[in-house]
Amino acid sequence: MSKQATIEIDGKKYEFPLITGTENEVAIDIATLRSATGGVITLDSGFKNTGSCESAITFLDGEKGILRYRGYSIEELAKKVDFLEVTYLLIFGELPTKAQNDKFHDDIKAQSTVDEDIKKILEAFPKTAHPMGIISSLTSALTAFNPSSVNVNSEEDMYKAIVKILGKMPVLVAWTMRKKQGLPLDYGDDSLGYVENILKMMFAKPNCKYVQNKILVDALDKLLILHADHEQNCSTSTVRIVGSAHAGLFASISAGISALWGPLHGGANQAVLEMLQAIEADGGDTKKYMSKAKDKNDPFRLMGFGHRVYKNFDPRAKIIKKAADEVLEALGIDDPILAIAKGLEKEALEDPYFVERKLYPNVDFYSGVIYRAMNIPQEMFTVMFAIGRLPGWIAQWREMRLRKEPIGRPRQLYIGETLRPYIDVDNR
Ligand code: SDX
Repeated sequence: MSKQATIEIDGKKYEFPLITGTENEVAIDIATLRSATGGVITLDSGFKNTGSCESAITFLDGEKGILRYRGYSIEELAKKVDFLEVTYLLIFGELPTKAQNDKFHDDIKAQSTVDEDIKKILEAFPKTAHPMGIISSLTSALTAFNPSSVNVNSEEDMYKAIVKILGKMPVLVAWTMRKKQGLPLDYGDDSLGYVENILKMMFAKPNCKYVQNKILVDALDKLLILHADHEQNCSTSTVRIVGSAHAGLFASISAGISALWGPLHGGANQAVLEMLQAIEADGGDTKKYMSKAKDKNDPFRLMGFGHRVYKNFDPRAKIIKKAADEVLEALGIDDPILAIAKGLEKEALEDPYFVERKLYPNVDFYSGVIYRAMNIPQEMFTVMFAIGRLPGWIAQWREMRLRKEPIGRPRQLYIGETLRPYIDVDNR
């Protein structure tokens, strides 16, 4: 392949370097486009063809259904390591030695309490508040109680902010769920593993001994690994662009949580369950929802289907679908919702509308079935996605800061009114 791309405008040719990544992906470096052409820019709504950065964290191939974190396949990681090791891998680039992992966990545990005044903010929310709005607010509020986490230019200061958010966000997640359930807040137990402690803080009842269920711990650990990073998705791009202004890590994560809340993004896992329950209430009439999804005049989409990048099976969906069967069987649960999901998937994969558009189940299609089996409230599904995505957001934010990326500031093509004279109010 040649080392440059040529663009011709009004008979004049402009050359731009071609950059090739380690997986042989090719990009046109248009950094000099506007200055070389006297103002011409590119336009790419939704950035479907535009790279925002170079990154060494996650590689995915949407055509082949490949997903790797720092070069390790998602299939291997989901089987062989735990969520805390994957967190370390994503952020620091290597799987940790036992000593590194133990120190990492100790540093996180040392930060896994939150200022009691955070409760006053939590108490101010109505029980009806969506937990994603609460979590986004409380994560941003953490800055007020940890001001040293804002101006972090050294790797050491970044590390301190990183272990703080990894220690504190699970507490905020558990407290949010318990506040909505009218349960007393639980402080967790430092003798437990990272994921064990999340479940304990979420589910321990004040009046009885909490007993860990290994099936639930392993299921959640796997789900969190599968959600941990996904290159430049909407919420990660949000974290990077907010962080590029040198806003603190907590403020950047808070912005990412807000982006993930959207039903086209992380909010889809809750929307999938609501859709499957509506189909169940309709007597399992999947055909009605399939035709709604294909009707251009109907805003309804088949939630949990389609993806900006995957034009093949989302590898995470394959793993989660298998895990859903295993978890429900191990728990002795026969959930009709799973059968409806499988029926809908089969129909969609045989329907020309979905086949032509290469719409396959994505990470959100089956995850809710497992969260439901774990008695996690439906409104908390996207919060579980956020806890899973936290390492990826941190890793991408840290990479952007260490590479000293410039502040993100896209251009635009103006299509509004040209210059016109002021008209006095009496003459309008
Ligand atoms: C996540 O980016 C990431 O990596 C995200 C994520 C991550 O890990 O961070 O993987 C997590 O967000 C997964 C996606 C969860 N969202 C949903 O399940 C919501 C339902 N899906 C769609 O809204 C949609 O597929 C998107 C938003 C996911 C992707 O949309 P695109 O890439 O902008 O695709 P598009 O809207 O241009 O659709 C192309 C065509 C259109 O039809 P035509 O105009 O060509 O006739 O496919 C249709 C769309 O109408 N289409 C769907 C559909 N998804 C796309 N039609 C019905 N149901 C759907 N779900």
